[in-house]
This record gives sequence, C-alpha cells and structure tokens, in this order.
Amino acid sequence: MKQQLGPGVAIIGSGSAVPEAAVDNQDLSQIVDTSDQWIVERTGIRSRRLADAQGSLTAIATAAAQGAISMAGIAPSELDLIILATSTPDDLFGSASLIQAQLGAQRAVAFDITAACSGFIFGLVTAAQYIRTGVYRNVLLIAADVLSRWVDWSDRRTCILFGDGAGAVVLQANECDRLLGFELRSDGNQNSCLTLPYQGQPRALTPGVSVAQGTYQPISMNGQEVYRFAVKRVPEVLEKALFRAQLSAEQIDWLLLHQANQRILDAVAQRLKIPSQRVISNLANYGNTSAASMPLALDEQVRQGKIKSGDVIAASGFGAGLTWGAAIFQWGR
Ligand code: COA
Repeated sequence: MKQQLGPGVAIIGSGSAVPEAAVDNQDLSQIVDTSDQWIVERTGIRSRRLADAQGSLTAIATAAAQGAISMAGIAPSELDLIILATSTPDDLFGSASLIQAQLGAQRAVAFDITAACSGFIFGLVTAAQYIRTGVYRNVLLIAADVLSRWVDWSDRRTCILFGDGAGAVVLQANECDRLLGFELRSDGNQNSCLTLPYQGQPRALTPGVSVAQGTYQPISMNGQEVYRFAVKRVPEVLEKALFRAQLSAEQIDWLLLHQANQRILDAVAQRLKIPSQRVISNLANYGNTSAASMPLALDEQVRQGKIKSGDVIAASGFGAGLTWGAAIFQWGR
C-alpha cells in the first residue's frame, strides 16, 4: 500500500539534551534494595540523568530543538509547526507554545501530543502527514520527558529503569520521500500494564455535585507483561512497516528501538536476524527516557558520524497505552 499522497518527507536535522546530574546504579543501591549487578544483568542500564528542582521539561526540550534546527540549517522563523511529544509537560495545558516562544519560532503553530514511550514514532508520523498534504514545509518534532517527577523512588522494580532527556528532529518537504513506511498500533485492553493515573478525592461543591481533586500517582508497571508485549509486538510492527517500505530486514542499516531494556533490544534484533553492530543502543548511560529515548540515541549516532546520509533506519517505539509503532526512513535529504 502506498502511504504517500503529496510531497515527500525528509528528516534533515537532529538534536538532544539531558540534565547534568548523573545517578549510577551504585547510587541507587543507597536508596532501594538493589545492586549494580542486578540492574545491569536485567536491563543493561548503568546510569541515568535526572532533572533537579530547577530543571524543566521546557529547558531540555528547547535545547534539543535548537540542536536540530541548527543541524537542519534553517532559522526558527522558518518553522511552520512544532509538535512536542511528552507525557510530562511542565504545564498540563501543554508546553509546546512556551518552547515555540523560547525558540523565537513566531510563525509556527505548536501543540503537545501524548503517546508515552511511543511518542517519537507517533509524532514523526503525525508531522509527516502535515508535510505530505502540502500544508506545511518545515516541522520540528521534539520528544522529551522528565519521568523522574513521577517515579516512586521507593519502588525498586521501576525506579531503576527511568531517566530524563529530550531529543528533536526537523522534517522538511522534499522531492524524494524518505519516510518509506510506517505502522502505528494501540491496545487499551492492556492499559493497566503501565500507568501514571490521576487520582482525586471527592470534594462536595453543592448538594448532589462533587468534583475529584488530587494529583497523578507514581508510575505503576507490570514489568513481565510489558516485557512480553514488547518482544512480541515490536518485531511484528517492524515487519509490517518493512513490508510497506518494500524492504527486508537485511536491507536496513540501523535498528533504532525505544531504549527500554537491552534484553528487549537483543530479543527484537534476534527475531529479525539483525546483527548487533547495527542495533543502536545508548541506554546504559541514560536508562529509559520515555519519548526522548529514540531521538536521543539517533542524535548521538548522527553526531558521532555513524549514521550517514542515505542510511536506512528501522525505528520502533512502544510503551504505555499500550501503544507501539514503527517507521522506516532514510536519513537526510
Ligand atoms: N533489584 C533487585 N531485585 C529486584 C529489583 C531490583 N531493582 N527489581 C525486582 N527485583 C526482584 C523481584 O522482587 C523478584 O524477586 P522475587 O523473585 O524474590 O520475587 C526478582 O527480582 C525478579 O523480578 P521480576 O520482576 O520477575 O524481574 P524481571 O526479570 O521480569 O525483570 C524488569 C524486571 C522490570 C527489568 C523487566 O520485567 C523489564 O524490563 N520489563 C519491561 C519494562 C519496561 O521496559 N518498561 C517500560 C516500557 S516503555
């Protein structure tokens, strides 16, 4: 099935930013009953960056965006649209507009989307639709999260996994279409596997009318269910997107997965028979940074000169919702 209607899409710049403070597994073992050995064996994670009380989602998202705009070689004023994929905005009304202002992107319209750890893939496909319909030419996609705000730091089953970060890409209308295929999925029947739910206490306003006031509760996760979901659904969705791109797994240069767990990366690569040297992994240094993890890993690889113009990248994100998806794209114009 052909997925392109109008102009093509190219991804022409990337950027990323993380908070300064690093917390390694040894540090965490002072807080909860765990060990460096357990965390490394089960997840591959060694350290993570955490935003402090002065840090904000907006600050790291803006820094990542500036890197992507600069690599793309455009001015902020040339942006038509800014999409921020996040589950942890500084403001529940959305943080994209503030980032727009900080970038000086006066002409752009900006809004947030939420798709948890799938946010980058869902955002990429959403951004591409505005270009393909001919409505917009330059689109900035930022994927950023500060999950440390919502982690239960006394729960060793979850607190070892997450870190904070931001990544961004610039998409541009292009004669050749570099988004070769995609597939997005969600299944709310498995919603309870991974949640960050609002919980309010009833507060009577008038006789017969009460409202619920409270806050969000820390991340709750069934780790084994999420693991099983990822190793089954991610290869499937990648195969579907590869089919749409009319490519086989041997033809891809890089496998870019949501950086949740090294064991998930290895299992997916094994299923698709992709050799480990083509699997992008930086989760040892950052942990699971939710929506940010894929553009953060992509940007590192691009800046290290490993990903070159024309390289084919098979990307897949997965997470709460449950949501998952894949996109096959070629880097550069
Ligand atoms: N340190 C030491 N022991 C720990 C621990 C920790 N941080 N966390 C859990 N344990 C213990 C458990 O209490 C359990 O002990 P028990 O057997 O005495 O009850 C044992 O280790 C095994 O726990 P289990 O939950 O079965 O481990 P696991 O092999 O499934 O690994 C995860 C746990 C979370 C690493 C793994 O399930 C996972 O990665 N799942 C996917 C999570 C994910 O990626 N989420 C985000 C998706 S976007």
